[in-house]
Amino acid sequence: MIEIESLTKSFGSKQVLRGVSLRIERGESLVVIGGSGTGKSVLLKCILGLVTPDAGLIRVNGAPVAQGREDFLSRFGMLFQGAALFDSLSVWQNVAFRLLRGPQKRPKAEARAVAIEKLARVGLGPEVADLFPAELSGGMQKRVGLARAIATEPSVIFFDEPTTGLDPIMSGVINDLINSVVREMGATAITITHDMSSVRAIADRVAMLHDGLIRWHGTIADMDTTSDPYVTQFIHGRAEGPIAAIR
Ligand SMILES: Nc1ncnc2c1ncn2[C@@H]1O[C@H](COP(=O)(O)OP(=O)(O)OP(=O)(O)O)[C@@H](O)[C@H]1O
Ligand SMILES: [Mg+2]
Repeated sequence: MIEIESLTKSFGSKQVLRGVSLRIERGESLVVIGGSGTGKSVLLKCILGLVTPDAGLIRVNGAPVAQGREDFLSRFGMLFQGAALFDSLSVWQNVAFRLLRGPQKRPKAEARAVAIEKLARVGLGPEVADLFPAELSGGMQKRVGLARAIATEPSVIFFDEPTTGLDPIMSGVINDLINSVVREMGATAITITHDMSSVRAIADRVAMLHDGLIRWHGTIADMDTTSDPYVTQFIHGRAEGPIAAIR
């Protein structure tokens, strides 16, 4: 469904992506792992067109995204790493953002009902619907961001660190939600996470980004048996290994 070929991106003299190639099949749940600052968020932003790559090709359903970006964007959902809620909108208006305007516009009462239903999916009750983002805890903001990402039932969803900052029980709720979005709704998902229990719970396939390239990819079973020192250092959280602790 999504093919990324030889993608490069630098910021000034810093080469972040040095030729990333990756394929994501329709209905697949791909998890991207990798050290902090390796370019995982930049990679997602390139796919979405929020960051312009220097070179390389991104195809969606066989067509380069430059043509047909509008169509692609209307079918995707995105959870940003920092939740990125609109401060001046209430919780339900954030969740229903795309249901209140544009091609997917619905009557206000209906949009609000959908928002409340999606909030329930992320473990938030209707009492938070009329609060503003500043009145929520960090974990609650993240969950509102998740509810917004799934509000239009998109066929492609990107989750950037969906469980970071959540307690273990809530992380389990979010892992189940991601699985149900993929398994029941048939969505294609790309998730970035450092949370190894989340990787195990949601990944069909894992790709590791290191030094601007996809260093390794495989299934969870492959991950557990690989001798790749970068992967083993990462999944066991060892300070010693080929991945430098200072970067
Ligand atoms: N808009 C930008 N302008 C300049 N540099 C940027 C920009 N966006 C990202 N970078 C740089 O690109 C590198 C990769 O950033 P990115 O956010 O993709 O890391 P990440 O792998 O998502 O890390 P983390 O796990 O900490 O979220 C960093 O060195 C960052 O400083
Ligand atoms: Mg990031």
